[in-house]
Amino acid sequence: MAKARIAVVGAGLMGHGIAQVFALAGHDVTITDLVKSNLDSARARILANLNDLGDDQQAVERVAPVADLAAAVRDADYVVEAVLEDLSLKQKLFADIEKHVGPNTILASNTSVIPITKIMEGLARRERALGTHWWNPPFLVPLVEIIETEWTSPKTLNFAMTLHAAAGKMPAHVKKDVPGFIGNRLQHALWREAVALVEQGICDAETVDNVIKAAFGRRLAVLGPLENADMVGTDLTLAIHKTVLPDIDSRRAPSPYLEKLVKEGKLGFKSGEGFRKWSSEKQSQLRSKVLQHLKKARAEDTNSTS
Ligand SMILES: NC(=O)c1ccc[n+]([C@@H]2O[C@H](COP(=O)([O-])OP(=O)(O)OC[C@H]3O[C@@H](n4cnc5c(N)ncnc54)[C@H](O)[C@@H]3O)[C@@H](O)[C@H]2O)c1
Repeated sequence: MAKARIAVVGAGLMGHGIAQVFALAGHDVTITDLVKSNLDSARARILANLNDLGDDQQAVERVAPVADLAAAVRDADYVVEAVLEDLSLKQKLFADIEKHVGPNTILASNTSVIPITKIMEGLARRERALGTHWWNPPFLVPLVEIIETEWTSPKTLNFAMTLHAAAGKMPAHVKKDVPGFIGNRLQHALWREAVALVEQGICDAETVDNVIKAAFGRRLAVLGPLENADMVGTDLTLAIHKTVLPDIDSRRAPSPYLEKLVKEGKLGFKSGEGFRKWSSEKQSQLRSKVLQHLKKARAEDTNSTS
């Protein structure tokens, strides 16, 4: 893919990582943020990541921090925002961005769950807009969901699919703009039942996590549920669903058990207790375990394609 001029708006956890991936792929990237300290530290954070992963450190030279939004997006072929998860903030931001970019600049939001249609409805040229949902950390998790709205043009969609594939990501085309897209719908369908199992006293929280991690979680990275259904047979899957589906949680609202945890200030890592208790040592052990796991998987991916 030809070199593109990319602007990343928001230099937080996701924004600096997205800028890193595009710079490593050879594109020129501007990055902007309202908070000076976040913008000022972006290149140092990118450099530390590149170092840690053994990636080309020269890539950071292609990332230019620019404080002014208009200047950051003015020459861009592609703008992606990763600011806070707030609908009115994102709507206002895209209205501003549209004033400063050319007519063909493609605009993307990295929202986690807000419908792209709502974010982009106020744009003058809605055909140039779409969603690109990355996963954290952007430079370790391969998948990016590319979300089309009813207005997104084929040219916009093709550009985004090609841009992400050429940058070494695995783009997944989401053909309808539904809340949670694909990944978070699947993830939270599982979490809903996980909470219900604890709520109903069927097991404790640690057991839920162990059953996933030590049983079907072991296979999930290489065997998706529909491949698995085909492997065991759709007839067996149908029989299982007839027995199990009437019994598993299908409530259309968050569980009262979860509501109670939040009300009691049991917020997880940030308060030391959520479903389970978390000392600061346990928290850093788990964080580091996840990071090591993702780094190992990326190294395996790289080895298998080289
Ligand atoms: N953290 C995740 O795991 C994850 C995963 C996928 C998607 N997302 C989504 O990505 C977006 C960013 O999440 P994050 O975790 O990087 O948040 P973050 O808080 O780490 O970073 C957000 C950044 O945006 C900046 N900002 C706020 N308003 C701005 C504005 N008007 N202009 C420029 N900069 C502005 C903030 O100063 C901050 O540096 C959110 O929509 C989030 O839902 C997050």
